[in-house]
Amino acid sequence: MKIRITDGVHWLGVNDRRKHLFENMWPLPQGITYNSYLITDEQTALIDTVDFSAAANYIERLTAHLQGRKLDYLVINHMEPDHAGMIGILLRLYPELKIAGNKKTFKLLQNFFGITANLHEVADGDTINLGRHTLKFILTPWVHWPETMMTYETTHQILFSGDAFGSFGTLDGGIFDDEINFQYYESEMRRYYSNIVGQYSNMVQKALAKLHGTPVRVICATHGPVWRSEPSKIIDLYERWSKHEANPGVVVAFASMYGHTEQLADYLARRMAERGVRDIRIFDVSKTHLSFLISEIWNYSGLLLGSCAYNGNAHPMMEQLCEAMSHIGPKNKQVGVFGSCSWSGGGVKNIKAFVDASEFICPADPVEVLGTLAADHYAACDALASAMATAILS
Ligand code: FEO
Repeated sequence: MKIRITDGVHWLGVNDRRKHLFENMWPLPQGITYNSYLITDEQTALIDTVDFSAAANYIERLTAHLQGRKLDYLVINHMEPDHAGMIGILLRLYPELKIAGNKKTFKLLQNFFGITANLHEVADGDTINLGRHTLKFILTPWVHWPETMMTYETTHQILFSGDAFGSFGTLDGGIFDDEINFQYYESEMRRYYSNIVGQYSNMVQKALAKLHGTPVRVICATHGPVWRSEPSKIIDLYERWSKHEANPGVVVAFASMYGHTEQLADYLARRMAERGVRDIRIFDVSKTHLSFLISEIWNYSGLLLGSCAYNGNAHPMMEQLCEAMSHIGPKNKQVGVFGSCSWSGGGVKNIKAFVDASEFICPADPVEVLGTLAADHYAACDALASAMATAILS
């Protein structure tokens, strides 16, 4: 089956429904796609490859599309092995293949696979003419690795964007954005962005600035749908996420052993709802993987972090979330802290230390109670909920 993007450009992606964890860390409940694209012209070019696990399916389809022709170019926008996994096999199949990449691509290519021949080095702005299609290379380092670049097809204005604008989730029949449920993929795109790319948001900003003024009709990312109906909408989402712009709402993430901290979470959420906050999401950090927590945190402007005390510190699952946030670096959040302890505490104090060390705004004092929530705690809780609501809605 051929999936045509435009004249001479075809989708050659594969769905991976077997892998549980992307990068051996991020859950894939609905799998993931690895997208590769084939251009057939006077010369042929493949844009990125796929994970090695899909080798048989991929090579069968590639050779069927080429109908006996040879492959002239392989463009490597990104060397992470979910896209670079097939380079060795392609070189064996097409010994004259020219591998187009930048200086940093080739360093990784040598270190990963020992490949030092067949190289066609490109610099920022360089082009390769295939006939009717011309490929222009735009270096966009650190979206997601140091060598990442994008390839722009000038005739049909297609941006092969690498990881940028990609999402988790397989393509289940619908390949193009006008064939899918957009809300689902937007959510999985934000999870991909916040988990994988968000740490490099300043570099995403530089890449978007570089693309500014380039007309884009179709975005072909290495994961998720092909964006052809309204690519500017997808670029706008990346603008927002990379600028740490968020929706008015509060994520309440708590760690609780015996329910006291959870009581506080429910009480604070109720009080914020009474004060007009309409988007409130409560999560037990021991149950929800931090991949989803990070994505929700990226989406909303407010965050309440709650923990019981555990060996004089926060609960280990809350510590893990704070550690992940310090690596990934969500910004511009209004953050409140709460928790319960049985004797000397330590949970609230250590979360507050994390918040103070981050670029977060703390609109109210933390609340820590001894044991269960009681009437004499209401005033402090109300003050925290009220300050959060005001900060979120103002
Ligand atoms: Fe899809 Fe950075 O790899």
